[in-house]
Amino acid sequence: MAAVPDGPPRGPDHDHWAPLRHHGDVEAEPGLLDFAVNVQGDAPPRWLRERLAATLDGLARYPSVTHDAAARDAVAARHGRRSDEVLVLAGSAEGFALLPALRPRLAAVLHPGFTEPEAALRTAGVPVARVLTDEDDGHRLHPSAVPDAADLVVLGNPTNPTGVLHPADAVTALARPGRVLLVDEAFADAVPGESASLAGASDLPGLLVVRSLTKTWALAGLRAGYALGAPDLLARLAGPRPPWPVSTPALEAVIACSSPAAVAEAMQAAERLAVLRAEQAAALAAVPGVTVLPGRAPYLLLRLPTGHGNRVRAALRASGVAVRRGDTFPGLGPDHIRVAVRPAAQSARLVEALAGALVGVAA
Ligand SMILES: Cc1ncc(COP(=O)(O)O)c(C=O)c1O
Repeated sequence: MAAVPDGPPRGPDHDHWAPLRHHGDVEAEPGLLDFAVNVQGDAPPRWLRERLAATLDGLARYPSVTHDAAARDAVAARHGRRSDEVLVLAGSAEGFALLPALRPRLAAVLHPGFTEPEAALRTAGVPVARVLTDEDDGHRLHPSAVPDAADLVVLGNPTNPTGVLHPADAVTALARPGRVLLVDEAFADAVPGESASLAGASDLPGLLVVRSLTKTWALAGLRAGYALGAPDLLARLAGPRPPWPVSTPALEAVIACSSPAAVAEAMQAAERLAVLRAEQAAALAAVPGVTVLPGRAPYLLLRLPTGHGNRVRAALRASGVAVRRGDTFPGLGPDHIRVAVRPAAQSARLVEALAGALVGVAA
């Protein structure tokens, strides 16, 4: 694991950093079986849709301060925090877009990892040091590899796309006065028991945890999430926001999904996902030429035989299957692909398509 100095952009900023803005949704073209996006299911559960539908009659009014306060109360109760330690977001991606408001002098971003925080920071001209984890080392987090000078450190837990769940003590070792430690927990509720989550940790200096409703609740189109941190940190983050940044239905979703019954439902789903993950990993590992990298998230990172990644992705698409390319993630290459954990019937189609694409290819 090493901190990699990154040279100046080669061309116009938007061209150079464009790969960081690539996401699986553009690979999940209509009609393809979608393993590229890690949203669970096709639609939110009925009880949640009904809750959202009930807000439609009130859409003539702007989102209210009391509704926002109720959402913050609900999140606070869910995580054992105070309400002033909660900032409701229009998706966790909004939290990343706001990071430049913290005016970091040097941001250290763990990679391979979700690229939006780096994209937002780069676009705002913030210097970024990439801290690369190694496949040979199980993409383990070594806190000593993070530059001391970094006053903002960004990592995901579990990390996307590696799926690695870093132990809480390795993550907390990165916290220190004068530094903001952003932990992207967009997938934490898909890990049984939310193990290693720091959402409830109110005593760590500079800790900012970002959560998403997108994945577990199939709410990608709604844009709902939240940040947890010290009130002064949240106030700095929120500085550049427009008025009414979170819609009324999104506020309602945050309240609904923070209830004890919803949290219990998510936890059961996480247990089921862990079983499906193990089964899907075993079936994929049995395909000659496929290496399944270890992880705990509701997706799997695969390595394909050297030089075959692009061809295999095209072959999968031709057989009706979309997977997430790996090469837009710093630290991965064209022979990495990421696939969502899906129900058995769907993952069987992936396994079959992958085996077909790799026939005759030596590992
Ligand atoms: C690791 C990770 N964090 C955050 C996000 C953004 O999620 P949201 O829909 O909450 O903005 C994604 C979306 O792909 C993600 O993979």
